[in-house]
Amino acid sequence: MKSILVIHGPNLNLLGVREPGVYGQGTLAEIDAQLQGLAKELGLELRSVQSNVEGEIVNAVQAAAGKAQGILINPGAYTHTSVAIRDAIAAVGLPTVEVHLSNIYAREEFRHHSFIAPVAKGQIAGFGPQSYLLGLRALSSFL
Ligand code: DQA
Repeated sequence: MKSILVIHGPNLNLLGVREPGVYGQGTLAEIDAQLQGLAKELGLELRSVQSNVEGEIVNAVQAAAGKAQGILINPGAYTHTSVAIRDAIAAVGLPTVEVHLSNIYAREEFRHHSFIAPVAKGQIAGFGPQSYLLGLRALSSFL
């Protein structure tokens, strides 16, 4: 069975209480449950991790090599700052889909640039929790 690693970046553990006007009322546990349901439908095994620490996300990406066949990642604010996460994704060479709950291009200018997008298969942003589900469907088509 093909395996997917889902990585949730910084502050996504606070979904539900964090800026609900931007990110909605849903929790990360609810998103993970929806992803598990869809993974089952698609015949995929799925494991989720959340970290607020850049180096831990780099470690998670590296550890996926040889274990997972694809990565679904919401890098949170590291999207806009992290060369290290970008380099880790490029290094392992696993098909990666970048997702965001909010439409980062409709927000502050500093959110318009993604260091991750050039090493991802593609990016889905702006559809709330649906971004993750659409991202998983897109990723599964590359496996
Ligand atoms: C986010 C968008 C980022 O700009 C922000 O820093 C986040 C969440 C999103 O899912 O919309 O933490 O990745």
